[in-house]
Amino acid sequence: MLCNPREYQLNPHHTRTIYELNTLGEKILTEILRAGPLSFARFMELALYCPEYGFYEKEADTVGWGGDFYTSVSVGGLFGQLLAFQFAEWFGNLPIADCRLPIVEAGAHDGKLAWDILGWLREHRPALFERVEYCIIEPSPRRRAWQTKTLESFGTKVRWLSDLSALARHDAAGGQIIFANELLDAMPVHRLGWDATKRAWFEWGVGLSENRFVWQRLNQVAENSLVERSWLAALPEELLSVLPDGYVVEISPAAEQWWSEAARSIASGWLLTFDYGFTTEELLRPERREGTLRSYRQHRLVPDVLADPGKQDITAHVNFSAIQSAGEAAGLTTESFEVQGRFLTKLAARLWHQTGGTDRLSEAGRRQFQSLTHPQNLGQSFRALVQRRG
Ligand SMILES: C[S@@+](CC[C@H](N)C(=O)[O-])C[C@H]1O[C@@H](n2cnc3c(N)ncnc32)[C@H](O)[C@@H]1O
Repeated sequence: MLCNPREYQLNPHHTRTIYELNTLGEKILTEILRAGPLSFARFMELALYCPEYGFYEKEADTVGWGGDFYTSVSVGGLFGQLLAFQFAEWFGNLPIADCRLPIVEAGAHDGKLAWDILGWLREHRPALFERVEYCIIEPSPRRRAWQTKTLESFGTKVRWLSDLSALARHDAAGGQIIFANELLDAMPVHRLGWDATKRAWFEWGVGLSENRFVWQRLNQVAENSLVERSWLAALPEELLSVLPDGYVVEISPAAEQWWSEAARSIASGWLLTFDYGFTTEELLRPERREGTLRSYRQHRLVPDVLADPGKQDITAHVNFSAIQSAGEAAGLTTESFEVQGRFLTKLAARLWHQTGGTDRLSEAGRRQFQSLTHPQNLGQSFRALVQRRG
């Protein structure tokens, strides 16, 4: 049974459980006691990004073999090297020979990917490296400090901005690349359910029961226009008429807005992301009736997404159809959308063609290539989306 927030506060038995929560749990609890159940997007925002206590604010090694999950970056340096080669190809084809070349990364975490990319460019494309200005979009002072340390050896080659709006002011006139790896799938999502009887979406929020955070159906979608402004509004009647009662989806206005803003800030150049995700059609398959929200801790799937906020990762698959549309609405054209395995294999083929084949690839390099591209590893579930202006 759900607690009345007031009872929760006054009942001495419950008060004891408040002290059992970690500091972030207490913050969330306080918000619920003050304003009632939270939207899941707010819960996720606090769990991942609350200054000091959020999952991504903790020590830098949450990503990688010793952490809670691994990414293409933590697989090894090859991912960054292939990306650097791609950027060199893109910039190499630009007609102007002496302009500066901004590369903008968001979601840089500990700066490892930037380090791999800049290192490859410095060694293999020194003339281009001289003209590159590497910019990291980083809202968190703590993560910026980790990145500064990692990238110390690149001196003033790297600069930081706290958000995209500052970038638009700086770089609106230049050709540029903006990219991210696993940024969008870490952005807060709203969790919605389908009420087949009312033929309407409702929102799952986060409330309290006993000493735990629990899913609680909100009386109405937190913000009325949330559904109308999302990709759900475009679903055809035929599909909605057969959608099972309780079918769960996640929507991420934050991810779509970020992509749209990034797209608008590109006067000419490329916007690229790697994330796990689906098209709208793939998201609405029968096997996904519980949605795609997941939580990871020490490489294990945690069954309760609401448990231990700040101590486990929370993530949801990206709706690439929505992201692609956001970019196109901002005037970009889609250059490619494919699984990561295919995208990287084509890149590697072009790179190795130039460098004389795979003979010089180390055993570790081969293993990395397999992890990045094999369908049962990161090759199939991750997608690469490239959009472009000009
Ligand atoms: C799943 S991690 C990926 C880290 C790294 N790109 C990698 O592939 O290993 C997501 C990262 O995006 C960061 N992030 C989330 N929202 C962001 C935003 N609006 N701007 C910049 N970084 C953000 C998180 O703090 C976290 O470091």
